[in-house]
Amino acid sequence: MKVAVTGANGMLGGEAVAQLAGRHEVLALGFGPGRPPEGTYRWQEADLGDGRSVEAALLEFGAQAVFHAGAVTDVDGCEREPDAAWRVNTGGTQQVARACRALGARLVAVSTDYVFDGASGPYGEEDLTNARGVYAQSKLAGEWAALSIAPDCAVARVAVVYSGRTTARSTFATQVVEKLSRGEVVKAFDDQFTSTTLAASGAAMCLELLLEHAYRGVLHVSDETVMDRVDFARRVAARFGLTGEIVPVKTADVKLLAPRPLRGGLKVERAAGMLRHRPLSIDAALGRFHDEWARRTPR
Ligand SMILES: NC(=O)c1ccc[n+]([C@@H]2O[C@H](COP(=O)([O-])OP(=O)(O)OC[C@H]3O[C@@H](n4cnc5c(N)ncnc54)[C@H](OP(=O)(O)O)[C@@H]3O)[C@@H](O)[C@H]2O)c1
Repeated sequence: MKVAVTGANGMLGGEAVAQLAGRHEVLALGFGPGRPPEGTYRWQEADLGDGRSVEAALLEFGAQAVFHAGAVTDVDGCEREPDAAWRVNTGGTQQVARACRALGARLVAVSTDYVFDGASGPYGEEDLTNARGVYAQSKLAGEWAALSIAPDCAVARVAVVYSGRTTARSTFATQVVEKLSRGEVVKAFDDQFTSTTLAASGAAMCLELLLEHAYRGVLHVSDETVMDRVDFARRVAARFGLTGEIVPVKTADVKLLAPRPLRGGLKVERAAGMLRHRPLSIDAALGRFHDEWARRTPR
């Protein structure tokens, strides 16, 4: 099958390319200088923000299924550069959805727990959204674009993605490992409750949704445990056998440009009942993260 992946330099997109390569004809669409892990796929640079490149690449490839994971993911950066966020996160999703509509291709578009305001999570798929901040609003508009333009579409929401792969970017989880290993203090919010998503697991659920199911609408595909970030940091430290200081901080005491959902998190019962790749417990996810980290090669 001809499967295209956007955001192929990123954590979820890179995982998807790695899992698809060799099993399907894969077009990996990326933008910046990074590259997905080694494997058999065709690489192409295409900008989600220019209104046409990604759409043209998908049409030329003749994609039968598209995993759309590309987005501007720097939440505070989106407040600094709102035009770019809207162009990429909403406009880019419109490009992808238009191509899927023209091709009759199945689409899974990735979205975020930030579409909720965090007043009363964890949230189910049918709960009312209330996106606050440019990142959240541009992603929510991307959800609507995907679902309304592409007839055969599922939106897969994840939260706090992390990966131990060499090619993955720095995240809160990798910073906990690196800082504690160097004897540095880790600061973590004790009032932000969230789900987390090991990229390998999230990508596997999304690809199963893309290639093996006809489900249309929103599905939550994070890992299953909801916790605050201090708890998450402590669990990462314990899994890696790291001791050191993890200092709780309050969101209101830190100057952040974008609002953060405090009582967030995603309910994943629907995915658990539907998919072969079930949402992972935090212990299982961190076990796999630890294995990925052990296999890292110097860059
Ligand atoms: N990371 C999280 O904690 C998180 C949480 C909830 C939802 N999500 C969603 O999950 C999806 C995947 O993100 P991720 O976690 O894998 O983060 P990521 O590693 O930041 O991946 C996002 C990718 O999008 C690409 N991108 C950015 N601007 C682009 C443009 N103009 N044209 C083409 N590609 C562009 C980036 O390319 P470069 O690498 O070249 O810059 C990056 O590889 C996104 O839809 C995101 O909104 C992420």
